[in-house]
Parts: sequence; C-alpha cells; structure tokens
Amino acid sequence: MELLKRKILEEGRALNDHVLLVDSFLNHQVDPELMRAVGEEFAARFADAGVTRVVTIESSGIAPAVMTALAMKLPMVILKKSPSAILQDGILQTEVFSFTKNAAYQLTLKRKFILPGDRVLLIDDFLANGEAAFGGIRLMEQAGAQVAGIGAVIAKAFQPGLKKLRDAGYRVEALAPVKRMAENTIEFE
Ligand code: G4P
Repeated sequence: MELLKRKILEEGRALNDHVLLVDSFLNHQVDPELMRAVGEEFAARFADAGVTRVVTIESSGIAPAVMTALAMKLPMVILKKSPSAILQDGILQTEVFSFTKNAAYQLTLKRKFILPGDRVLLIDDFLANGEAAFGGIRLMEQAGAQVAGIGAVIAKAFQPGLKKLRDAGYRVEALAPVKRMAENTIEFE
C-alpha cells in the first residue's frame, strides 16, 4: 500500500535492525485518514474471504481494526491482555509470550462475543514473531470460530511470524512488508 509505505519512509524511524518507531501515526498519535485508507485496503483484500467479524488485540490494533470493520460493515471485537490468570465463567484465555517485552500475558476473550461458525479476520498493527497472532488463532479455535485471514499493517518479514503463519496455511496480508532495516534505513519487499 503505497500511501502507507510513503508515510513510514517520511515519519517512521528504524531504531536499529529490528525496531521500527511509528508512534507519530500508528502507536501513539493516530492518523485517522491513513487508518481509514488502511481499513478500506484490508476490506478490499479480504472481500472474498466470507468474514463475519473483525478481531484485534489491544491496544494499537484497535484503530486499523475498527476502520476495517467499518469498511466491511461488520462488528469488531478486542482481545484483552488481562493481567489475571483467574478463569471466570464464559471467559476464554491463552498465554502469549512477547519477545519484545520478554514477558507473558493472558490473552482474554468473553466467549459471547465470538460465535461458533464465525469467520474471523485478525487485524494487528505489527506482525513480528507471530506470537500474538497465534494466540488470537488459539482463542478463535477455542470459541469454535475459523480464522479467515490475518491482516498486519506492518510486517517485519525478516522476523519469523509472517512465514510461520503462511506455512501453517493462513492467508496473511501485510500492507507494508519490511524486508530489511538498519539504523535510519527501511526497505520494503
Ligand atoms: P509478536 O506478537 O509478533 O510475536 O510480537 P512481539 O510479541 O514481539 O510484539 C510485542 C509488542 O511489540 C506488540 O505491541 C507489537 O505490536 C510491538 N512491536 C513489535 N515489533 C515492533 C516494532 O518494530 N515497532 C513497534 N513500534 N512496535 C513493535 P504491544 O506490546 O502488544 O503493544 P500495543 O499493541 O499496546 O501497542
């Protein structure tokens, strides 16, 4: 998606060979016009996937996911990173390990918001190691739903997530697949 790639080149900053700072339009301040275009792009790419619900993980996935849901005229569900491991009635949880943060969290879903038979489009801001995406997939399976596709605004293609998800048979669309980064250099695929 050229508009997004241009924005990354203009405002993004590679801190080193694996961390991309995009907090002026995606992770801290949010550019609503760009997010609307991102949502329309995901909606077009997954138009034939029979999606019934858009799902994301708090917090930076929410802006692109809600714009995708709006463009697809579908409901959107946020998976929570609950600090509690205490199971309650009607709650599904799975543990996700974040390599970036070197810590685990419980990804949590209230069962009533995903129905058996739902075809879910998982949207997130970054795809890195794929741990969050695989956690989302596990929760959808627990809820009896199918993952119809995965959309990443930015995918760091040199990290294992993108390949692992595709090897596992999932359809993954990355709007800005980054091939290589170095301090102050960003190259797309
Ligand atoms: P993974 O799910 O693909 O395995 O990734 P990982 O655990 O390593 O990522 C943890 C967090 O770091 C996620 O956000 C992810 O979006 C973010 N992240 C990963 N790589 C980058 C990067 O190069 N730049 C930026 N800015 N963020 C990155 P989070 O901690 O869940 O936070 P948030 O969604 O609340 O922002």
